[in-house]
Amino acid sequence: MRQADKQTLQRILDENRKYTAMGKVADYIPELRRANPAALGLTVAAKDTGIASVGDCDTTFTLQSISKVISLLVALLDHGPEKVFAKVGMEPSGDPFNSIIKLETMNHHKPLNPMINAGAIAVASMISGRNVEERFQRVCGLIRMMTGNNGISLSEQTYQSEKATGDRNRALAYFMKSTGIIESDVEEALDLYFRLCSIEVRCSDLAKIGLYLANWGRMEGSDSLQIDPCLVQILLTIMVTSGMYNASGEFAIHVGIPAKSGVSGGIMAVVPNRMGIGVIGPAIDDKGNSVAGIRVLEDLSKTFGLHLF
Ligand code: DON
Repeated sequence: MRQADKQTLQRILDENRKYTAMGKVADYIPELRRANPAALGLTVAAKDTGIASVGDCDTTFTLQSISKVISLLVALLDHGPEKVFAKVGMEPSGDPFNSIIKLETMNHHKPLNPMINAGAIAVASMISGRNVEERFQRVCGLIRMMTGNNGISLSEQTYQSEKATGDRNRALAYFMKSTGIIESDVEEALDLYFRLCSIEVRCSDLAKIGLYLANWGRMEGSDSLQIDPCLVQILLTIMVTSGMYNASGEFAIHVGIPAKSGVSGGIMAVVPNRMGIGVIGPAIDDKGNSVAGIRVLEDLSKTFGLHLF
């Protein structure tokens, strides 16, 4: 990346660091409390100009809900959109990510979309494999391929912590089992979901996943597509409508690019045909999104003209 562009990224990071003080590290899962609330890191992986990282980009963190994009892709590869969307909807929920209310009252017990917890657990129940370990390795293998990082693996401490505190997710899963949305073993679906949330990455990994999606499923430096671009189109559209939970509308207006957040403070964003972006800022707002991370993306979008509309 050009020196001037890297300096611009550094300026954006420095100017938005103050917002880290306006959020709080997630504490409902004990392991997440250990994150540094003041950290802020950014990686941009651009198609034409290459990769650049600024700030605390060596910070490791877990994918949390960002994994919901990749697990949806694997379920779509396994079964195709028709079968997947028979079990999970495509509409924004307007509710917190772990809400249970609309599961009973709306949409014939179908979770509203694959980016809320209920939807992601239903998606996890559809991923093919002989056992949980094999299913986990299929998703993790795809992430390793997208990032070129063979070291990507599970944070055992976060996984244990997710399992120990995951009763709301168990309630969602057992409700879906009772209504037939989940057809396979419910404990296995939950176990896979907890593992996927606990995959450890850096913001450069998020940027490379974003670049892979920005390239419609083509690896940098290769001419051949590895997945059907129609599946990427589905992922990016759902990221726009539901990727930032009940802040997706505001984010779409101010930033205007597909993005997915996680409670660890990571955000993975995609500018189709141009770049992938990874941000980490563990101090989050009451909706579960990184406060400074959103500001960084807004500033980036304005500075480089990334808004899609
Ligand atoms: O409690 C859970 O299900 C989480 N480990 C995943 C949540 C997540 O990242 C949601 N929010 N932004």
